[in-house]
Amino acid sequence: MNLKNKQIVFIGAGNMAEALVAGILRAGIAVPESVRVTDVRADRREHVEGQYGVSAGADNRAAVRDADIVVLSVKPQIMGEVLEELKGAASGNPLFISIAAGLSTRHIEQALGGTARVVRVMPNMPALVGCGAAALCGGAHAADEDLAVTEALLGAVGITARVEERVMDAVTALSGSGPAYVFYLMEAMQNAASRMGLDSETAKRLAAATVEGAARAVRETGLPPEELRRRVTSPGGTTEAALKVLSGGKFVETMIEAMEAARRRAEEMSGR
Ligand SMILES: NC(=O)c1ccc[n+]([C@@H]2O[C@H](COP(=O)([O-])OP(=O)(O)OC[C@H]3O[C@@H](n4cnc5c(N)ncnc54)[C@H](OP(=O)(O)O)[C@@H]3O)[C@@H](O)[C@H]2O)c1
Repeated sequence: MNLKNKQIVFIGAGNMAEALVAGILRAGIAVPESVRVTDVRADRREHVEGQYGVSAGADNRAAVRDADIVVLSVKPQIMGEVLEELKGAASGNPLFISIAAGLSTRHIEQALGGTARVVRVMPNMPALVGCGAAALCGGAHAADEDLAVTEALLGAVGITARVEERVMDAVTALSGSGPAYVFYLMEAMQNAASRMGLDSETAKRLAAATVEGAARAVRETGLPPEELRRRVTSPGGTTEAALKVLSGGKFVETMIEAMEAARRRAEEMSGR
């Protein structure tokens, strides 16, 4: 999809907004002349402007006046005041894409005045290296085209999946918080290898390549992880010995409990 003739505005020029700006320009779906960012911090404005050739300012209301797409990329706790400020500021009827964790489309629609076109996205941190996983859902007034535009934008920094809003907290527990579970696993594997005598740099490289390789094997073969696990687990072999310890330590049950805790916390944070 070509967004070159769309005025795209990012409210909040932090890590996520920068990743998206870099991604859409790199993918060639947008041009710097039609991208604008705002931030309360001069250093962020100067950095993003200097690095990507987009325009930057501090005035949120002025920035969205002629916008076609407004990406709401401030922290959730700031979003209330930003939405209040943006209410009625656009001359047309732009698409609002919120990447703020936990805020419902209904909440954003109401804060903007009722009939705003809103798409809610749950992105994740590896978007910063162009390898994100984002789930998205449309609000009451979002058209299919709005979801397609959002997919194009987020698709520039990773994969996307359309979901129903009721499962957004589950997505938060899976792919939103998920990178930290994998970092934790890598830390543990690395520490265990160091205890067995590997130097930590080699352990880190081997652990990272192992996680990346396993993830690519799932994506590229299309096989379920269980099947791939069976294929690398010879009866009586080393992998089987390790997996027995993991299942004895209630690995699966622990993961379910951990993700339930993340989902509950997401619910609490969104006021439900
Ligand atoms: N980073 C992630 O891994 C991740 C993952 C999933 C979802 N998200 C979501 O993505 C959103 C952005 O996250 P981020 O990590 O990019 O945050 P961030 O780096 O803190 O970026 C937000 C930027 O907006 C600025 N800002 C604050 N108030 C503002 C205002 N009124 N108008 C304009 N700019 C304002 C902030 O300045 P100050 O620093 O001075 O406040 C900061 O520079 C959040 O809603 C978060 O929930 C992030």
